[in-house]
Amino acid sequence: MKLVIAKDYEDLSKQAARLIAEEVTRHPSTILGLATGGTPVGMYQELIALHKEEGIDFSQATSFNLDEYVGLPGHHPQSYRTYMEDNLFTHINLPTDKTNIPRGDAADLGAECKRYEQAIAASGGIDIQVLGIGNNGHIGFNEPGSTKETTTRVVQLTESTIQANARYFHKIEEVPTQAVSMGIQTILGAKKIILLASGKAKAEAVHSMLEGEMTPDVPASLLQQHPNVTVIVDEEAASALS
Ligand code: F6R
Repeated sequence: MKLVIAKDYEDLSKQAARLIAEEVTRHPSTILGLATGGTPVGMYQELIALHKEEGIDFSQATSFNLDEYVGLPGHHPQSYRTYMEDNLFTHINLPTDKTNIPRGDAADLGAECKRYEQAIAASGGIDIQVLGIGNNGHIGFNEPGSTKETTTRVVQLTESTIQANARYFHKIEEVPTQAVSMGIQTILGAKKIILLASGKAKAEAVHSMLEGEMTPDVPASLLQQHPNVTVIVDEEAASALS
């Protein structure tokens, strides 16, 4: 895995946005894999600026998000669909019908997971996947114990993930306990991967991902077997590296 240590969060966000913009410029019909959470917000702001100021064109691109909470309709204020609309989609020219996020409110979640996996395959596969990392080493919502054979499925969120995500809800009881998430195999199917981590709270997970053994106990460590991963961290997130 290639490691880039950025000066700070702003530098990390700019470097990540540049990689995406280069991909979209070189290959306009790029299939983007996108993440939510706090970490990529700055990268999305940079991408919006690149679209507005440099004309980076998303009109032929397609996106697939990693995950969505079970039980939340797309229009729910805390859904990942709403997050993506607010942080990126309504500010660039990516056509809405080319933005894909699992339906967490589907009546048949099993069928929805299968449909999502098939839609990714039918698109030709993800060209560049953006990932964050959980404090416990999760990627997407693949919590510790997720094996490299996993595909899109309903997952149970761990207590630590529920607590980390409670900051977006009025109270912790409102945080969904399950999500639909791409699996590790789905993520490893992307041609390129960029993983972003910022802040001291991520330092241990970043260390285990890069310097620990490859194990489902730290799902991000399974990225070690992928041939094209760029990990962009700020100095705090790099602080436990040897
Ligand atoms: C988000 C996702 C998660 C987050 C991770 C880090 O779509 O799949 O894996 O990337 O929980 O979240 P933040 O960036 O909020 O620390």
